[in-house]
Amino acid sequence: MKKVIISMMVVFAFALVAYAAANGPATIDLVKEFNVAAPTKKAVQFPHAVHQSKLQCVDCHMSDKGGALKNQKTGAAFEPAKLGIKGMKNAAHDDFCWACHVEKKVPQGKSCNKCHK
Ligand code: HEC
Ligand code: HEC
Ligand code: HEC
Repeated sequence: MKKVIISMMVVFAFALVAYAAANGPATIDLVKEFNVAAPTKKAVQFPHAVHQSKLQCVDCHMSDKGGALKNQKTGAAFEPAKLGIKGMKNAAHDDFCWACHVEKKVPQGKSCNKCHK
């Protein structure tokens, strides 16, 4: 009986790890991920898991497995790490986060301290 329980626990632990890997991290530091060279605001800790519970993967990614992001205005691939994000008028705001928050009417969706905290 003990052996059965232990092997069930092992299977469960592996399933959890596999689930986490397929879905990516629950929270993502976007200064690192978007390659922001000289941040002036607090780095955004993006609540990935919260978004996954409300949206489809392909709302943000080009595929349902993750990987390349999607420009919210054009639907083309979005590569923030190559865009030199700087200042208020930047692609992370205009072409990604804010574009969807406005469309979906997220409460305080453009309030600075909702994201930079
Ligand atoms: C609201 C937007 C959004 C949704 C919805 C979303 N993601 Fe992500 N995801 C991101 C962002 C932003 C990153 C970090 C940037 C990056 O790594 O490209 C990321 C990173 C990832 C990563 C790690 C890095 C990579 O690019 O592979 C995986 C894996 C991933 N997401 C999978 C998923 C899966 C699977 C779903 C659906 C269950 C999903 N995501 C839903 C925005 C989203
Ligand atoms: C495709 C749509 C979409 C995109 C893109 C998107 N969001 Fe959101 N976001 C939402 C929705 C919808 C909610 C509201 C979730 C809810 O009902 O609480 C939300 C809520 C949030 C919240 C509040 C979460 C909480 O715990 O209440 C934060 C913070 C946030 N988004 C940050 C970001 C950042 C940073 C980006 C860009 C990297 C981003 N979002 C991109 C749709 C999006
Ligand atoms: C929906 C999420 C979200 C909101 C709301 C938001 N930002 Fe951002 N912002 C980002 C993301 C994502 C980045 C790129 C990653 C990072 O810098 O953490 C960014 C980057 C920046 C940058 C360039 C990098 C830096 O730190 O200098 C500035 C400046 C900035 N934001 C200012 C603001 C101001 C001012 C507000 C309020 C008017 C605001 N942001 C509201 C998500 C948001």
